[in-house]
Amino acid sequence: MKKGLFVTFEGIEGSGKSTQIIQLADYLKAKGYNVIVTREPGGTLIGSAIRKILLNPEFSGMDYHTEVLLYAADRAQHVGEVIRPALENGDMVISDRYIDSSVAYQHYGRGLPLDFILDVNERAVQGLKPDLTFLLSVPVALGLERATKVAADRIERESIKFHTRVESGFQELAANEPSRWRIIDSTRSIDEVRKEVVRAVDALLGK
Ligand code: ADP
Ligand code: TYD
Repeated sequence: MKKGLFVTFEGIEGSGKSTQIIQLADYLKAKGYNVIVTREPGGTLIGSAIRKILLNPEFSGMDYHTEVLLYAADRAQHVGEVIRPALENGDMVISDRYIDSSVAYQHYGRGLPLDFILDVNERAVQGLKPDLTFLLSVPVALGLERATKVAADRIERESIKFHTRVESGFQELAANEPSRWRIIDSTRSIDEVRKEVVRAVDALLGK
């Protein structure tokens, strides 16, 4: 039986997910919670191998269906090996991305059918849903500027138009399910964003 809390962070690259996850984990640890921080793709050993295939810029010819199935394969392993056992143990699980990323990138971004993505993923995770999901919202240009690394990975090489579809996809997902989502303006300072994230988690914990 699930006893812990499952929190996910979503948003385009460079929206500040990793930064805020570290802050939230520190806050919850200081309150005495057992916190598991993890990410997709690549939250397990098998997932790290899948991640290398998914993000390899040499694989520019990857079929979009292959892409969906590889993200779902990574997720099945992640839920089975890390997330579900931790939740059953009563831990706080914070994940950098989850199924919503597949809907935003592979449905809104790539244009694949929503029912295919939801069906594959719901089977992969056997119905496990987050209790709370943050959308860290930033204009695409700012996110990509913040995310700029020496070598962009396969998905980061996509066009501004692609990332704009992904960001509006996230907005639509959040608007359709407001009880689970909190949209956070991530153009503000790291500390201002942190305070809003903490407020939302405290509210859910009833404190
Ligand atoms: P993501 O995990 O969503 O890709 P990161 O947390 O890695 O994003 O942030 C990308 C970059 O932007 C990092 O260099 C980080 O220090 C910086 N950053 C994150 N949040 C903010 C913010 N609120 N203001 C300015 N810079 C930020
Ligand atoms: P990553 O370097 O982890 O990016 P970020 O720090 O922004 O999370 O790369 C993950 C990439 O994979 C990112 O471009 C989003 C993409 N992605 C999908 O397209 N579908 C998915 O289901 C997931 C989990 C990620």
